[in-house]
Amino acid sequence: LDNGLGRTPPMGWNSWNRFNCTIDENLIKQTADALVDYGLRDVGYKYLNIDDCWAGERDEQGYIHASNITFPGGIKALADYAHSKGLLFGLYSDAGYRTCAGRIGSLGFEDVDAITYASWEIDYLKYDNCYNASIPEQGRYEIMRDMLNATGRPIFFSICEWGASQPYLWANEVGNSWRTTDDIKLGWDSVMDILHQQRKITHYAGPGGWNDPDMLQVGNGNLTLDEQKSHFSLWAALKAPLLLGFDIRYPSNDTLEIVNNTEIIAINQDPLGKSVNLAQSTKTMDIWTGELSDGYVALLLNKAGSSITIDLNFTAHLNVLGELSIRDLWEHEDKGVYNDSYSRDVPTHGIVVLKLTGGTKIEEFAEFIDQYNDAALSEFVIK
Ligand code: GLA
Ligand code: GLA
Repeated sequence: LDNGLGRTPPMGWNSWNRFNCTIDENLIKQTADALVDYGLRDVGYKYLNIDDCWAGERDEQGYIHASNITFPGGIKALADYAHSKGLLFGLYSDAGYRTCAGRIGSLGFEDVDAITYASWEIDYLKYDNCYNASIPEQGRYEIMRDMLNATGRPIFFSICEWGASQPYLWANEVGNSWRTTDDIKLGWDSVMDILHQQRKITHYAGPGGWNDPDMLQVGNGNLTLDEQKSHFSLWAALKAPLLLGFDIRYPSNDTLEIVNNTEIIAINQDPLGKSVNLAQSTKTMDIWTGELSDGYVALLLNKAGSSITIDLNFTAHLNVLGELSIRDLWEHEDKGVYNDSYSRDVPTHGIVVLKLTGGTKIEEFAEFIDQYNDAALSEFVIK
């Protein structure tokens, strides 16, 4: 969506994965503090997003109010608090008559709700698709886009619809991101399942509109350290929104080290905004590669139950000829200059993330050969 927002994928925190409906204003304030105190805001996690279950009732004029039990101070006060901490603030609603957790939705109230959200000074709206009366998706999302736009406040518009209508086919004109799958679950199988559903749609992601394979489960338990690094790296390289979903008030050092890896974040936030693609996949491994504004990135993923060696071939996997300098973005170490290929041992469910610079892109090389042949040919003709 061309509203000036989401030129790189959004980064922040969302309440759903860890807290579901057990949220209140104290949790949100403490989370704002934690985003700042643990350095998360400063590496890019700016959005503080409340998911479902903040809403109370509509009044006689149709205006929505936050639950006066869990959010007695109201949403505006929380948005103000977030802004005072240098954060951005996000909210959730639904393009149906109820939200997925059964709270009041926005269908038929798009105008009042957009005006209300803007008056609360929100910066991000996640807009779900439950209880939608089977009205076609696109139109329901377009209404909210237009109503948000009419407020004049820049509001990142996150489309939470992954069902039959294949949102990536239409959502680029409607939202800044669109869900591509069902909800992520807390486990490796879910991470892998979602990953493989991305493989044919990577080209839909770009500045202003991103594929959303759902929020991060890093830090929520049930994934090994290597699995969490893999999950984080893959989402970053797919240019997914990086929305943390754990209780950041009490982070472990391991979790902080993962989500504060600025070299991986830089892949996600690269201005070129191109997702990685699946270059090779077998039962035991995946190689995902892509272009950056200043080089290439390659992810070597071990899906097997034991350590394996993965070979990156510059021509086959990257379309690049010649010598490449290689840096390991988890070891934070330059590995030297290599010709043609590079191999690494990768632990079970682990990943090696490489940034590569140098070499010649094969299309450019082909052009060069063409020009060279033309030149040689004209010389020959003149003689
Ligand atoms: C849906 C969404 C989730 C979350 C819940 C809230 O399941 O996909 O991300 O927002 O609704 O009820
Ligand atoms: C329905 C839709 C999905 C998704 C969910 C809620 O199941 O078909 O696209 O939006 O609601 O997350």
